[in-house]
Amino acid sequence: MTGAGEHVLVLDDLSAGRPSRLPQGVPLVEGSSLDGGLLKRVCAEHGVTGVVHLAARKQVGESVAQPARYYRENVGGLATLLEAVAEAGVGRFVFSSSAAVYGTPEVDLITEDTPCAPVNPYGETKLAGEWLVRAAGAAHGIATVCLRYFNVAGSAAPELADTGVFNIVPMVFDRLTRGEAPRIFGADHPTPDGTCVRDYIHVADLAEAHLAAARRLAAPDARGDLTVNIGTGRGVSVRELITVIGEVTGDHRAPVVEARRPGDAPRAVASAALAARELGWTARRGVREMVGSAWDGWLLHQGDRPGE
Ligand SMILES: NC(=O)c1ccc[n+]([C@@H]2O[C@H](COP(=O)([O-])OP(=O)(O)OC[C@H]3O[C@@H](n4cnc5c(N)ncnc54)[C@H](O)[C@@H]3O)[C@@H](O)[C@H]2O)c1
Repeated sequence: MTGAGEHVLVLDDLSAGRPSRLPQGVPLVEGSSLDGGLLKRVCAEHGVTGVVHLAARKQVGESVAQPARYYRENVGGLATLLEAVAEAGVGRFVFSSSAAVYGTPEVDLITEDTPCAPVNPYGETKLAGEWLVRAAGAAHGIATVCLRYFNVAGSAAPELADTGVFNIVPMVFDRLTRGEAPRIFGADHPTPDGTCVRDYIHVADLAEAHLAAARRLAAPDARGDLTVNIGTGRGVSVRELITVIGEVTGDHRAPVVEARRPGDAPRAVASAALAARELGWTARRGVREMVGSAWDGWLLHQGDRPGE
């Protein structure tokens, strides 16, 4: 956002965020989305005109183990923020939703009209969050956009790389770095090579989607609500992804195939048409670029991960 000339203030409780990752000159308020008094003060004192709400817990397994915490932080935090936004008269709101709202639909391309049926508490909090965003938008005249991200990968710069090992790309890097073969969960899915097919989106493309959404809301006639998929529209199988990882890392160890994981959809690929039409945004970066940028970040942060 700052790179695009927008003025930004960041509010973060630093549970996962690090101040060193902020561009120079971006003010940071340390605090929680659950602290209504702080949110109201920040909106008023800084003359906030729009909000991009990213803060959330995001681990599916953790959400299954701690559902109340996920509802409290993801839905409760959002409700608290929307009350502050409404009171301050902030007119624009972008919400980080997720393809997890869809659950495991059996369709070739997931459109925004595909029925939502989340299969874990994390996805439920994102769907409930969307309902709340739309309801608050209608009640208080806030123009809103909900962005349903598909599988985020890559790094905009090595020093900004996500150091968590929660998604497939870092999980494969982790195995290779330990001298172990990558794992494939299920090679008997009804897909061309039997492995799960996903829509991977480069985090730099995702950032551009947020900018496009914020700018759409900044238009003088911006009104109403919009919910859009943020994906590429192209499916990549786990086996294809592991091949690209082998090319990038130079480690071509053959993957081992293990049993399917319960709840894994064989295929989850976005229709990217609505984002192109409504936001004028289309993903520009491919899987090779995602893996290459993630690997650069992985190498830079080698020493930061626990157990190393
Ligand atoms: N990364 C993905 O693959 C993915 C996919 C779909 C949707 N999303 C959504 O995108 C958003 C951002 O994801 P991310 O990968 O950047 O996660 P992240 O954990 O890297 O970033 C979340 C940030 O929010 C902060 N935070 C968390 N709870 C907070 C609270 N209650 N108050 C204030 N700050 C808080 C954390 O410190 C962190 O800086 C989340 O809402 C997530 O659900 C992410």
